[in-house]
Amino acid sequence: MPAWLKDAVFYEIYPQSFNDTNADGIGDIEGIIEKLDYVKGLGCNAIWLNPLFDSPFKDAGYDVRDYKKVAERYGTNEDLVRLFDEAHKKGIKILLDLVPGHTSEEHEWFKKSCEADRNEYSDRYIWTDGAFCGIAGHPYIGGEAERDGCYMLNFFKCQPALNYGVLNITEKWQLPTDHPSCIATREAIKDVMRFWLDKGCDGFRVDMADSLVKEDDEVKSATGAIWTNIRAMLDADYPEAALVSEWCNPKCALKYGFHADFYLDHHGNGYNVLVRDCETEGGDHSYFKKDGGDGPQRFLADYLPRYEGSKDYGYISFITCNHDTPRVTKALDISEIKLAYAFFFTMPGVPFLYYGDEIGMRYLADVRTKEGGFHRTGSRSPMQWDASAKNFGFSEASSEKLYIPQDSSADAPSLAEAESDPDSILHTVRSIIALRHEYEDLQADAPFEVVYAKEGERILVYKRGNLLLAVNPSGEAVKIPVSELDSISCSNLIYGIGKADFLEDELVIGAQSFGVWE
Ligand code: NOJ
Repeated sequence: MPAWLKDAVFYEIYPQSFNDTNADGIGDIEGIIEKLDYVKGLGCNAIWLNPLFDSPFKDAGYDVRDYKKVAERYGTNEDLVRLFDEAHKKGIKILLDLVPGHTSEEHEWFKKSCEADRNEYSDRYIWTDGAFCGIAGHPYIGGEAERDGCYMLNFFKCQPALNYGVLNITEKWQLPTDHPSCIATREAIKDVMRFWLDKGCDGFRVDMADSLVKEDDEVKSATGAIWTNIRAMLDADYPEAALVSEWCNPKCALKYGFHADFYLDHHGNGYNVLVRDCETEGGDHSYFKKDGGDGPQRFLADYLPRYEGSKDYGYISFITCNHDTPRVTKALDISEIKLAYAFFFTMPGVPFLYYGDEIGMRYLADVRTKEGGFHRTGSRSPMQWDASAKNFGFSEASSEKLYIPQDSSADAPSLAEAESDPDSILHTVRSIIALRHEYEDLQADAPFEVVYAKEGERILVYKRGNLLLAVNPSGEAVKIPVSELDSISCSNLIYGIGKADFLEDELVIGAQSFGVWE
């Protein structure tokens, strides 16, 4: 386990929308370099960059045409290496986005794979042996290539699935996972990883990490074996490099070799019920919703088994949001969001802050889809640095040229305004992250324990190491007799939102309040 992950707080940058320095309306690497001090000032000491490799951008860069080449619109390979170097000088680590499940249909490997004559890449992707048959229930394309076969898709039509073999062979065109061609796929991905690690990147966020072997068993052991093999390479040659999975099953992902696994917004899971439960019948029951929110039980019932079953292997990553999920502003208001973030940044594991969430950027429901974003486009609009500057200071381009239109509402948030407002989300984000860095007990590996959570009540009291924390998202103050807190000796308040303190023999948490005691 790379030691730096223990105190890591990530900032996710969607490069298209962060900072444009060449006035083409799209963010670039130079723009990220320019804002490193800003990222550092938030307390983030690590960055995850969404894919910035050569691509036809039919899925915003998750359709990679060349894994080893930075897309021109962002800069050059040299610029990316300069970003690694400048970030390292400031104590910031950089994770790249690795997309191992598929490439773009324009990748050279795929073009060769489509050829009728057999070659080195014929089995790099999953093909049937006839252009007229389906592909074992998976999405596929037939009739597009000279080759007589259908190929499997991993996501959109532009993303053919790379071939890692299948566990139980049922069709004659399927290959076993230990077939030399499937091993070659794995080694090709390792080669890509080495390429960037040798240039100075600090690891990878791995796209659809669970998707490699198609007919796998329930615990995805064949896919897991590939990651265990890849992790062995890291342990041997790049022990400081981190691997974070998009899997949302830490019990599997961490055992197979990932250092951290994202807690994603899967419908009804623990993360979802905290802040995005708005699609449930009868209104929004998100835990952090002041009115109508549920108690913490639904979250705990989902989270605790995940945490207990994975804490000896690595970390769970809470996210404020990401480039695929609606920004939390869609469902929660500012005071609800502050409590949610105070909670996320005091939980075990490695937290991720999505660009713009620190200033309460809104989910833009009405923007037209861009590069395969569809409903996700609303969370990908350009960063709002300063409302008094052209395009909020994101770009000097004319506004029609912007990658995605920006928030046009009169009260659209901006960084400049958030800086000068003492009640902004920004100040909560900075202060809670600073607290996390100050107290080891708030960091990734310090234990988590529920102290008080009762059916029908909104309050949650929990411990991290020797610290006591309490959150009350409801609109009513709550008093808990100290005798119910089971021999807790913490009483010195070190951080608070709203009103939270011990008064005589009671813990008193005001409406929408949060406290940390040592
Ligand atoms: C998950 C990524 O986060 C998403 O943006 C992408 O479209 C798919 N994987 C396909 O790569």
